[in-house]
Amino acid sequence: MSMTERHKKLERNITLLGVATFVVVAIGGIVEIAPLFWIDNTIEKVDGMRPYTPLEQAGRDIYIREGCYTCHSQMIRPFRDEVERYGHYSLAAESMYDHPFQWGSKRTGPDLARVGGRYSDEWHVQHLRNPQSVVPESIMPQYSFLAERDVEDLDQAAKLRALTRVGVPYTKADIAAANNDLRAQADPDSDAGDLAQRYPKAQIRDFDGNPGRVTEMDALVAYLQMLGTLVDVNSAAAQEELAQERGR
Ligand code: HEC
Repeated sequence: MSMTERHKKLERNITLLGVATFVVVAIGGIVEIAPLFWIDNTIEKVDGMRPYTPLEQAGRDIYIREGCYTCHSQMIRPFRDEVERYGHYSLAAESMYDHPFQWGSKRTGPDLARVGGRYSDEWHVQHLRNPQSVVPESIMPQYSFLAERDVEDLDQAAKLRALTRVGVPYTKADIAAANNDLRAQADPDSDAGDLAQRYPKAQIRDFDGNPGRVTEMDALVAYLQMLGTLVDVNSAAAQEELAQERGR
């Protein structure tokens, strides 16, 4: 039987053609999917990235609760206009501990992936209380109530433990110290223990200008001031990682 005749047989038998098509597509699928079962991680590790502190994590939960993501993205795309406006484009590793991630797709306001350190705490508090008082044309809603509410006294340890289930590498020490860490990060007078060693680059200070309490404003500002500051994207090490990432 010649090749064309064999092909004729295949094309005229719908069942045979269906089975053959399935086999061919399945091989393509296996080639794409199977390697994912053998590599530990699809994200290159980058120096500096660490799990969020309990206070930052609490701020992140408030960010999600208040729907900040409906107007703000947290992903700088590798295009010149974005990089010039917002800074170095986001690396995959920078959102590796985000559950759920906050990349977003709507930018009514600016991208926040690298907003950390761009403004003072006072600016953030004033802006969150009343955005129009610092940016008169702003359409951002007012969140002054955050300064009046204490961070909900949830069991922070349970929250961290839940995050370990989805792969965030909090240590036993992190979990044991979680409730203390939450308070200590917003109160420079209290004993923060080894918080700064366990969470490098953690910013420890009173964020909302009200040292007596740990408010939701403290948590949210701590979170915003951390965004984009953990990885030194311009360091040689990061550049090396980037080269690898591009080479793949
Ligand atoms: C209705 C849309 C909207 C919502 C919801 C919103 N924002 Fe905004 N945001 C804006 C707009 C517009 C701006 C630009 C004008 C300004 O600075 O106020 C902005 C600016 C900002 C800035 C300054 C960014 C920069 O680089 O100048 C920060 C920080 C910020 N928002 C944080 C938040 C947080 C945190 C929340 C949730 C508690 C939030 N926003 C909710 C629209 C919004």
